[in-house]
Amino acid sequence: MPRHFLRDDDLTLREQQEILDLAAAFKSGRENSTPLAGPRSVAVIFEKTSTRTRLSFETGIVQLGGHPVVVDARTMQLGREETIEDTARVLTRYVDVVVWRTFAQARIDAMSSASDIPVVNALTNEFHPCQVLADLQTVRERHGPLPGLTLTYLGDGANNMAHSLLVGGVTAGMHIRVAAPHGFAPAQWVLEAAHKRAAETGGSVEVFDSPEAAVSGADVLATDSWTSMGQENDGKDRVGPFRPFRLDTALLEATGKRETSVLHCLPAHRGWEITDEVLDGPSSAVFDEAENRLHAQKALLTWLVQQR
Ligand code: CP
Ligand code: NVA
Repeated sequence: MPRHFLRDDDLTLREQQEILDLAAAFKSGRENSTPLAGPRSVAVIFEKTSTRTRLSFETGIVQLGGHPVVVDARTMQLGREETIEDTARVLTRYVDVVVWRTFAQARIDAMSSASDIPVVNALTNEFHPCQVLADLQTVRERHGPLPGLTLTYLGDGANNMAHSLLVGGVTAGMHIRVAAPHGFAPAQWVLEAAHKRAAETGGSVEVFDSPEAAVSGADVLATDSWTSMGQENDGKDRVGPFRPFRLDTALLEATGKRETSVLHCLPAHRGWEITDEVLDGPSSAVFDEAENRLHAQKALLTWLVQQR
């Protein structure tokens, strides 16, 4: 059975550390191997729009000596009536890894169940685990070892970033807090998965409805769009209830810490979930975070193809 990376807790603490070490080595230039030389091909398929994920995977695969096949899913038979499982069986005959950005997690679960090559989640409605590998790399660069650090996520606690930071963060042994308006708390099943993993690693999970209480003492603050891709017409008020959770200078100062770092996976909606002052200020790590997508994904792909 191949290893897949469908959600953050598909990796153990030790495996996650191994990948983050390799990501740092790629970034520094200490590692420059080409495990995809041959070349091995990687299908990178998008059912939603993307800037960072598309560019970082395509560039990273080339740097690893491989051949990226980047496809807009609307131009595939997948978008008509071909099943996900049949698509997986066919892809397996051509390529060595499948990277997929799609909607429901159940879709990527179906792809992986019919695939005997690694399948990587490039964002679903429920998780964005490649982003969180890059986030953890960024936090490690700024704050050192991850176990025991506190990260507070502000905003839509039910979206893919909140879920992945919860599950991926506690896998790293971090204390993860989520501050979200009423009705936008993380899914119960994700909280259960995060609690389970936290019990193994020494991390912890807390959900708040007060942003001020949630940020107090935090080493890292993170936020994301209040309206994720596919939620544009879901009938919910995605502005009013979120205003107190905007990441601004007052909330940054309310951490009470001098060295707080700010993360945002981007794209940012400046003036909505985060102010210009914070995004462009000295605490912001967001462009390092975007760069680290490249290094973290190179490390992930290297690790996945070595597991076979
Ligand atoms: N952060 C992120 O995944 O960005 P894209 O949607 O541009 O890929
Ligand atoms: N939560 C956002 C992340 C974008 C990278 C979305 O799903 O649209």
